[in-house]
Amino acid sequence: MAMRSLLRRCGDCSSRRQSSSSACATQLARAFHSALASSPAADYQSSVTSSSSSAFDVGSVPSNARGLGTCSGEKTITATLFPGDGIGPEIAKSVKEVFKQAQIPIEWEEHYVGSTVDPRTGSFVTYESMESVRRNGIGLKGPMTTPIGKGHKSLNLALRKELGLYANVRPCLSIPGYKTRYDNVDLVTIRENTEGEYSGLEHQVVKGVVESIKIITRQASSRVAEYAFHYAETHGRKRVSAIHKANIMKKTDGLFLQCCREVAEKYPNIVYEEVIIDNCMMMLVKNPALFDVLVMPNLYGDIISDLCAGLIGGLGLTPSGNIGENGLALMEAVHGTAPDIAGKNMANPTALLLSSVMMLQHLGLHDKAETIHKAILKTIEEGKYLTGDLGGSAGTTEFTKAVCHNVQ
Ligand SMILES: NC(=O)c1ccc[n+]([C@@H]2O[C@H](COP(=O)([O-])OP(=O)(O)OC[C@H]3O[C@@H](n4cnc5c(N)ncnc54)[C@H](O)[C@@H]3O)[C@@H](O)[C@H]2O)c1
Repeated sequence: MAMRSLLRRCGDCSSRRQSSSSACATQLARAFHSALASSPAADYQSSVTSSSSSAFDVGSVPSNARGLGTCSGEKTITATLFPGDGIGPEIAKSVKEVFKQAQIPIEWEEHYVGSTVDPRTGSFVTYESMESVRRNGIGLKGPMTTPIGKGHKSLNLALRKELGLYANVRPCLSIPGYKTRYDNVDLVTIRENTEGEYSGLEHQVVKGVVESIKIITRQASSRVAEYAFHYAETHGRKRVSAIHKANIMKKTDGLFLQCCREVAEKYPNIVYEEVIIDNCMMMLVKNPALFDVLVMPNLYGDIISDLCAGLIGGLGLTPSGNIGENGLALMEAVHGTAPDIAGKNMANPTALLLSSVMMLQHLGLHDKAETIHKAILKTIEEGKYLTGDLGGSAGTTEFTKAVCHNVQ
């Protein structure tokens, strides 16, 4: 296996790097810092929002919007909206208001989670809801409750499996104007979304002994690895790190790694490395600039992406996109239903708003995406109407009003 590994230590930063000709993580971080120092919001905005190679742009356009190109305001696109539950309806309302203000040519087809299991989907998500996403090819989803340790199967899982949403892309970028321990976070996690520990296959062997089955297939692993490398290549990223625990789960994570290695062979310009999950968590906390694009099985993706959210200021700021075949995509915030603040006008709608920016990028509506993205960043940078999770005292509605005000 000709793995283009990067295990040499860099004396400057004790980071790992590709080769002597490549910039080490510290050099990259310095360049990033100095770019931000010149004009934080403007540089960030132009690097993140202005082109189709934006980190938020996740791939091919769904058939619903093909041929649209830039937004002319002439064609209305229908998109499915799941407000979800908990804080979902409050933050979904925020997105609708901002879209209205920005005159986004989207017509929402709203779908709510049912209260009984639809036998056609085996979950509370109805067949009609699934069909809506399939038909429109694009959707935005609020968080949905999954009972812990009992009850119905996860609605999120049902959606991802039924719709074949095989990759979950979570761009994690520092937000200029919002200070955290790091101001140079610029990484993307790509999570296998359909199998692994989330197979839902659990049973009791004998009393007191239960078993959970982790399924890894060549097909799903290769598919997500292909997506990760393609994403890296088309977004000007240099490195893909496969995250695993193959030292313990030799067969399952071993197969996942094998598939990543095979795909890596086809991308000689992308540095490929393998990092054990526990070490990866430590490295991320110490210096997130060590990473670029990370690809991993389902559960590790769930855990690492929440950690990454913490690096940039929390769950209220982190968007994601679930990607399927033929451009099908369902964007959603990384966070859950936040039952502790639901219905209290305390939720930060930024994560879902940024997810909607990803949706617009995906539809090819780059100008509109940029308008909303800039308005969000400006509102956060101004700092006058921050929600509680960001240290402010504004409500969801005040923050939303401020974003609407900044839409130009
Ligand atoms: N994709 C999804 O639909 C999704 C994802 C994760 C969790 N969940 C579900 O959500 C429920 C609650 O899960 P949890 O409590 O572990 O995680 P959570 O993300 O809902 O909340 C974790 C913490 O972050 C805060 N938080 C989250 N989003 C916020 C926002 N937008 N603004 C301000 N604060 C925010 C919450 O108040 C809470 O303190 C569970 O049923 C879980 O299964 C759903």
